[in-house]
Amino acid sequence: MADVLVSYYSRSGATELLARRLAEQLNADLEPIRPKVAYNGGGGALKAVWHALLKRTPALEPGRDPAAYRLLVVAGPVWAGRLSAPMRAYLRGPGQRAKALAAVWVSGSGQPYGGVGGEIQSLCGRPLVASASFAEAEVRKGEADARLAPVVEAVGGQVPA
Ligand SMILES: Cc1cc2nc3c(=O)[nH]c(=O)nc-3n(C[C@H](O)[C@H](O)[C@H](O)COP(=O)(O)O)c2cc1C
Repeated sequence: MADVLVSYYSRSGATELLARRLAEQLNADLEPIRPKVAYNGGGGALKAVWHALLKRTPALEPGRDPAAYRLLVVAGPVWAGRLSAPMRAYLRGPGQRAKALAAVWVSGSGQPYGGVGGEIQSLCGRPLVASASFAEAEVRKGEADARLAPVVEAVGGQVPA
């Protein structure tokens, strides 16, 4: 078993690409966050906005125990300028058991969305070991490595040459 767990939620695949890259560089275990609520399709997108604005925490399928790892990295998309609901549910639930936490988030615009980092930090109640925001386009083009490097270094992984 690895000593770092990367848990991610991805509705349309961008965060999954980033989380896979991160897990590779950290030699980490990788696991999707699986809400019991479906967010796919047009109706799902509306529900996603609604749940983000209302700060809903959907029920999640069970997964690995973050307490079994030295550090947890949580990854997810920005919805309506906020934390996506499955990411919030994970941080309020299993993520509470993490010994240390880092986080990355992906948005269409690539704005920093400092409020997302702030909410993650207040949910986990302590400073993040590392955090970074990414634009969907840079992730899909495979151009996220340079900005991923400080996160990988802070967590203690292998930055690609
Ligand atoms: C419901 C919803 C709300 C979104 N809100 C924002 C937003 O406020 N700002 C932004 O830049 N991108 C927004 N996006 C775009 C996503 O953050 C972006 O497409 C992200 O890469 C999706 O990640 P994923 O493919 O892992 O699901 C939104 C997307 C959805 C589905």
